[in-house]
Amino acid sequence: MKRTSTSIIIIRLLICTVIFVPPCCTENWYLELDISDVNQEIQKVVEIIENRYRSEDIILSNISRLIIGSPVYGQMIDSMPSKEGHSGSRNAEIIYEVTRSLKNTYCLSYGLSDIQCAKDLTKVNLTGTTLGEMCMAEYHNNNYSCIGKDFDYRSLDGSCNNLKRKYLGKANTPYKRLLFPVYKDGVYEMPNINDEMLPNPRLVSTNLVKDEDSPDQTKTMMMAYWSIFIGHDLSHTTVSTIGKENRFVNCCDKDKSIQYSLNKNIRSCKPIFIPDEDRFFKPDPFDYMNCMNYVRSRPAVRSDCTFGPMEQMNQATHYLDASMIYGTTEQQTLSLRQMSLGKLLVQKKRFIIPSWDIMPLETTDTNVCQNGPGTCFRAGDIRANALPQLNAVHTLWVREHNRVAGELYKEKIFLTDEELFQEAKKIVTACIQHITYNEWLPALLGVNYTKENGLGLGQRTTYDETADPTVSNSFATAILPFANSMISDSIRITDTYLYPPGQPTLKEHYNKPLILGSLVTHVINDMLIGLTMQATQKVDMLFTQSITNYLYSIDPNDSFGMDILSLDIQRSRDHGIPSYTQFRKYCGLTDIENVQDLSEIMVEGSADKLLKLYKTWNDIDLLVGALLEKHVDDAMVGPTMRCIIKEQFVRTRIADRFFYDVPGVFSDYQLENIRKVTLARVLCDNADIELMTLEVFSRPAVYDHSVHGCISTLIPNMKFIGWFDKLEDNFFGIK
Ligand SMILES: *[C@@H]1O[C@H](CO)[C@@H](O)[C@H](O)[C@H]1NC(C)=O
Ligand SMILES: *[C@@H]1O[C@H](CO)[C@@H](O)[C@H](O)[C@H]1NC(C)=O
Ligand SMILES: *[C@@H]1O[C@H](CO)[C@@H](O)[C@H](O)[C@H]1NC(C)=O
Ligand SMILES: *[C@@H]1O[C@H](CO)[C@@H](O)[C@H](O)[C@H]1NC(C)=O
Ligand SMILES: *[C@@H]1O[C@H](CO)[C@@H](O)[C@H](O)[C@H]1NC(C)=O
Repeated sequence: MKRTSTSIIIIRLLICTVIFVPPCCTENWYLELDISDVNQEIQKVVEIIENRYRSEDIILSNISRLIIGSPVYGQMIDSMPSKEGHSGSRNAEIIYEVTRSLKNTYCLSYGLSDIQCAKDLTKVNLTGTTLGEMCMAEYHNNNYSCIGKDFDYRSLDGSCNNLKRKYLGKANTPYKRLLFPVYKDGVYEMPNINDEMLPNPRLVSTNLVKDEDSPDQTKTMMMAYWSIFIGHDLSHTTVSTIGKENRFVNCCDKDKSIQYSLNKNIRSCKPIFIPDEDRFFKPDPFDYMNCMNYVRSRPAVRSDCTFGPMEQMNQATHYLDASMIYGTTEQQTLSLRQMSLGKLLVQKKRFIIPSWDIMPLETTDTNVCQNGPGTCFRAGDIRANALPQLNAVHTLWVREHNRVAGELYKEKIFLTDEELFQEAKKIVTACIQHITYNEWLPALLGVNYTKENGLGLGQRTTYDETADPTVSNSFATAILPFANSMISDSIRITDTYLYPPGQPTLKEHYNKPLILGSLVTHVINDMLIGLTMQATQKVDMLFTQSITNYLYSIDPNDSFGMDILSLDIQRSRDHGIPSYTQFRKYCGLTDIENVQDLSEIMVEGSADKLLKLYKTWNDIDLLVGALLEKHVDDAMVGPTMRCIIKEQFVRTRIADRFFYDVPGVFSDYQLENIRKVTLARVLCDNADIELMTLEVFSRPAVYDHSVHGCISTLIPNMKFIGWFDKLEDNFFGIK
């Protein structure tokens, strides 16, 4: 069967050559693909993959489980895939394998390049093949109708936000591409460090990164943590699972022969090998640590249901919808709720005083705490425990939710738990959106730039049903990590006298939020104040060693962790993110034509270093180039980074039917109140604070002038009196 089709192609090729019109076949070769041939490829691939899972299971059966508390265990927590994505990722593996096989069997024979073949295959529809129904069920399943769904509130997983394309922005769907991905084979293969142009990610990191203090005296540390908080709302990339049981694998097993076997046989094992000259991981010739675990990201089925290059799954919803607080599944959200009065579960540390409540401990054995059950908190997003100050920000919003639910209850006492919960969640989400667009984006991207580029709040948002909210892969993978360069090892806590042995450090507290024991409530409030006083670190190539050498290491003795920058570089190559220069072009910035151009764009002294690592500036990884760019006007980032962030937040706004200032989402009176909210007010109301600066992200030159009492009307309050009155006809909340 296959033989005949191959010969038909050869005959067609011959005809083309004979009559000298090659474009007839080459350009549209994919239209000639025969469905039954495609189905045959699919069947072949399904068998191959089944066998692969079987052999993976055999290999894994011989490997010991991860040790609780080890760095790899911490890494697993951050990147743990949910069971909701299992079937989608498995189907995706089949689709990409078939794509590769179609490329090799058919496309390449026309003399087309790998990337052209991959592009052509995105025009080949799965409909009609044996995979078609699966893809339709994943994204276009008409059984799952939005009609009759509760229109008043968001769904937890983001579905039915767009009523025409209900899967848009849903959790466990792929990231979006701004530029066509670049894989070694056009489909999914990562560049191989040894025989390619690209330098080893760890070598890039050790050559470019320094651990030095570089505070931005005009911005507070809250800038760093809000960036991470919002980043977690919008994106969560997880790893591919291995074998039939969907296991997490450590590709860097201590036993070198097992390590070898894993890397040879498990396709998603792409660890970073430590260069010999690495003075940290290889302090002496004895090969202490030769390998940093990296497992390729979980793939997702392309949402247009076609063949094509690999796309990665976002486990978070693509909307700015507080999913990191509330979770993305019914089961998760139920486990976070008190189930009375609309409140979220908390531990009461002082009776009646909500600004002392803390989040519930995760006591069930769910592998979410690096130190074992009961040593971390339960949240809508596992990563809430990664950094103590991030955890404090989560706690702040859990308290705010409960405060709002309490106010609503006072206003309308007969509302059910469900009604109170949904309305409070809606208000909290709106406040987070408002603070993000009103305070954080102008501080990050510059005040004028924000106004002039579709991010200003002067006019109400017009919802655009045709816009796509999907988070871009480049933003999530290569840009969001900018926040890592802003964090500092010292955890500023205001009441320093409480901690005579010195300030707590991030190194000891990564993934270990509970170490401060019984003082934890105090610490959370004091950490929140600390975030408003401590200067943030600049967005640059200076990182604290706590995350470039000790990431996930909770051993108080100086031992080895991992390197967040190496992992981020490896991840952007895993995802086929095009280079820095291609994104400059995308952003309409000037081309780099010579070393002089490069030196002018990059911070002083970095152009030479870059050209020692990369053979040409055209190879520079997006994240690396974007971190080294000179910053523009009053932005905290360079122009390429700013452009990609802007592109994202414009769509995050206009493609969200529930965006807080879209007409109908809130009544005029409610919106007027939500617009009063500042992060300063949320801190005042929930962290036992008396004095606060008006603009929390800005660090005033003279403290006295901008600090006000929380009772001051300069830090206005949301008013709940009459919240449910005066509702317009087009309004669709509780009436
Ligand atoms: C398991 O590991 C042991 C020791 O490393 C080895 O001798 C044995 O062949 C392995 N078994 C399998 C199934 O790989
Ligand atoms: C694939 O085919 C289906 C049904 O024929 C059609 O509705 C859909 O638009 C096609 N998709 C693409 C990307 O061409
Ligand atoms: C739709 O529902 C019917 C009946 O419940 C079921 O047989 C069918 O498989 C469903 N279709 C999809 C695409 O899930
Ligand atoms: C912002 O715009 C105003 C008015 O056009 C101008 O005076 C100011 O210098 C601009 N600020 C920056 C940082 O460019
Ligand atoms: C740290 O080192 C000390 C002394 O070498 C040792 O007793 C202790 O067990 C180590 N702690 C951990 C957590 O490994």
